Amino acid sequence: MNSRRYAKVAVKVACSAALALFGASTALAKTAPAARLQVDPKAFTLVHVTLDGKPLALRRYEAVYVRKPVAMAANQPARRMGPGGSPAAADKQVLANPLAYQSLYVFVPEGAKADAAIILNVNNGGWFASELRAGIRDGGSYQSTSNTDKVGAALAAGYVYVDVGTRGRGIVAADGTYPGHAPAAVIDTKAAIRWLRLNDAALPGSAERIVVTGTSGGGGLTAVIAASGDSPDFLPELARIGAAGISRTGKSTLSDAVFAAIAYCPITDLGHADLAYEWLYGPVRSAGGTRGNTGGGQWMPAQMAASARLAAGYPAYLDSLHLKLADGRALTAATMRDAIGAQVIAEVEHHIAQGGTVPARGEPFNIAIPRMFGGSMQITRANDWVTVSGGKVTDFDLGAFLTFVAAITPLKPVPAFDRSHNSGNTGIDGENTLFGAADQAWSNFTPYGWEANDVAGDGSGADDAGLAWKGWITHRGQPLARQLRMIDPFSYLGAEAKARVAPYWYVRHGMIDRDTAFPVEIALSRAIAGDSAVKELDFALPWMTPHSGDYDVQSAYRWLKKVISESGSW
Ligand code: DHB
Repeated sequence: MNSRRYAKVAVKVACSAALALFGASTALAKTAPAARLQVDPKAFTLVHVTLDGKPLALRRYEAVYVRKPVAMAANQPARRMGPGGSPAAADKQVLANPLAYQSLYVFVPEGAKADAAIILNVNNGGWFASELRAGIRDGGSYQSTSNTDKVGAALAAGYVYVDVGTRGRGIVAADGTYPGHAPAAVIDTKAAIRWLRLNDAALPGSAERIVVTGTSGGGGLTAVIAASGDSPDFLPELARIGAAGISRTGKSTLSDAVFAAIAYCPITDLGHADLAYEWLYGPVRSAGGTRGNTGGGQWMPAQMAASARLAAGYPAYLDSLHLKLADGRALTAATMRDAIGAQVIAEVEHHIAQGGTVPARGEPFNIAIPRMFGGSMQITRANDWVTVSGGKVTDFDLGAFLTFVAAITPLKPVPAFDRSHNSGNTGIDGENTLFGAADQAWSNFTPYGWEANDVAGDGSGADDAGLAWKGWITHRGQPLARQLRMIDPFSYLGAEAKARVAPYWYVRHGMIDRDTAFPVEIALSRAIAGDSAVKELDFALPWMTPHSGDYDVQSAYRWLKKVISESGSW
């Protein structure tokens, strides 16, 4: 979803989470949690829903999934921007339940089998913390044939459905520190997976069939979880919060690997996403073909200079990944544009094969864009980038296509993710509050952002640290390097990485999604495909889809059913 729409959704989520928790049983008391992590199979709440109009009962279990949850401040600061760019008042929340960042719900449909898949929903859009919220509501009605109702699809397939709350950026602990910095969301999700493994025999569903799924920040979290199974990197933090399956000596006695990932528009590789963004979109900015964020309709010279510097860093970074295209050629700056084009062309032809139409050159596309306050808005944009004939693309102009994308949703400012000027940078459009020491609200996390930061006293940047990036990141900034590594699937994908990578991946990034640039997603897809543990990757840039998720539920759940049946004993 785009950032403006996100603000509205975030408010809704915050309110509904609070309501859900007030309405929930007292099992999640505000007092000390149970030290035990074992579930009591008899301690559930019955939930009644309808699936395709027929009644269905589910058992709902609630649990704090760590022995030592982090004590949270009761009053949480506003952490997202509301309409108009000021903090949304409704988002300044008093926590209904301070344990909700390290709790989960397990929904077990009547008749679910011991070997059923477990859908594990990570809900942390924006890499923000996600207070636990119930994806399945008593009295809810769900449809198995809808393309947007993943609950309906999961229940119809007999899967167990899990919602997990995790720490993430934007939250404050009782001691005033920031417990949601990277890699907290990854640690918590792994702890939840370990809880599911610990309790595997006690509940229906198989922890050997965990399918992690999420959108945007949640897609990024999904990707790193699926890439980093059982990596020892995470053990010290898992031990610190009392996760299941960590021995007294810090050894792992349970796995946190997962079977599959269903990831939508993953916001990932944050350490390099600014480079990819400018490498791809810099020429669109220079052509002035899209609005700037300065109100003047043009990008400021300083932004253009920053864009050029960032773009220049991308080719060497991409080379350093040593990725290969499906045809065996190296994925480099020289082949990346073709790789993006091939993916878009494949999607255009897929759209036609499905019965869709493509306007002639000069004729308009009619595109539905979700609105900030619900519903959608029809926009029209002329086709100046693709010609089709007989179901095939006969001419394609990538430059014009990128200008088209940026004309639908204005590009992010420069840099897209690591804002050099941090003041007020608490909104969704910059990721700085994901990084920094525990007592530091935010940090820059890239060489450019670090060196361009001139906000004296914010504790970040060469101006405060007295060290240029290289000196910083290799010495006192080592914890930051670790934060970047531990939220990044690229750190774990690839033959030499020590992790148990999920064998099955379904990854989507909308064809008109500009929240991160296409090279990030293309590179991710090739890193996944190139990992020897991966048996299947289904990757696409869905037709005229903006930043969003769970829009092709039928396709995703058909895919899941197929890979489960072909997986044997993973
Ligand atoms: C999300 C969107 C962004 O543009 C971003 O930088 C991070 C996260 C999101 O929708 O989750």
